Amino acid sequence: MDSKRVIVALDFPDAGSALAAAARLDPSLCRVKVGKELFVSAGPAVVSQLHERGFEVFLDLKFHDIPNTVAGACRAAARLGVWMANVHASGGAAMMRAAREAVAAFARPPLLIGVTILTSLSDAELGEVGLAGTAAENVERLARLAAASGLDGVVCSAEEASLLRGALGAGFVTVTPGIRLAGEAKGDQSRVVTPEEAVRRGAHYLVIGRPVTQSPDPAATLQQIARSLAGEKVRS
Ligand code: C5P
Repeated sequence: MDSKRVIVALDFPDAGSALAAAARLDPSLCRVKVGKELFVSAGPAVVSQLHERGFEVFLDLKFHDIPNTVAGACRAAARLGVWMANVHASGGAAMMRAAREAVAAFARPPLLIGVTILTSLSDAELGEVGLAGTAAENVERLARLAAASGLDGVVCSAEEASLLRGALGAGFVTVTPGIRLAGEAKGDQSRVVTPEEAVRRGAHYLVIGRPVTQSPDPAATLQQIARSLAGEKVRS
């Protein structure tokens, strides 16, 4: 298993502040995530600048479009050399297969991850968009579809990580946000777990934003998290 489990979310409005935050992180202890805000303002250049500084990048743009368009976007992400990219599983099997085929020819293709159900959606809101059943049922169905369509894993909560590990096996990658350090305020995240607990529940990678980036000493916080995870095992 990959010992570098932490992905620090660089949720910043411009390249300057993202690179300043990255300068306080050790690329041997974490990867970084570039999301929509940073990518729309700073473009692919910021991804290259992070690569030059030794970071592997999760390009979190959640592609969702017709198969040909998503394939083109995934090919462009692979050309940029990102370590991980993601698409919405609800785009369908043909779209996910097209994404997989688009990156297959690259020597080091990005890990392709599916977004199942956005955790911001309540069960009532799922009904409004026409999805029957609970969020958990929809997550499992979409994760199975993602696996069958050749994706490497999904974004999910720590709770779902243990369910999916049972359903799809330990090799199916789970990427888990909603992490807070013990004793820390939840902020706008509603269901949170500690890094250790997320790993015990089977999460492969942990997306951690503000607990690291807003820490008075991001390097020390990251080191503390990495150390706390070193001995953690999945609870069976
Ligand atoms: O600062 P914080 O640790 O809450 O950041 C979490 C990161 O994970 C953000 O970039 C956010 O967009 C992302 N995310 C999330 N919940 C999800 C999916 C992604 O918080 N369900």
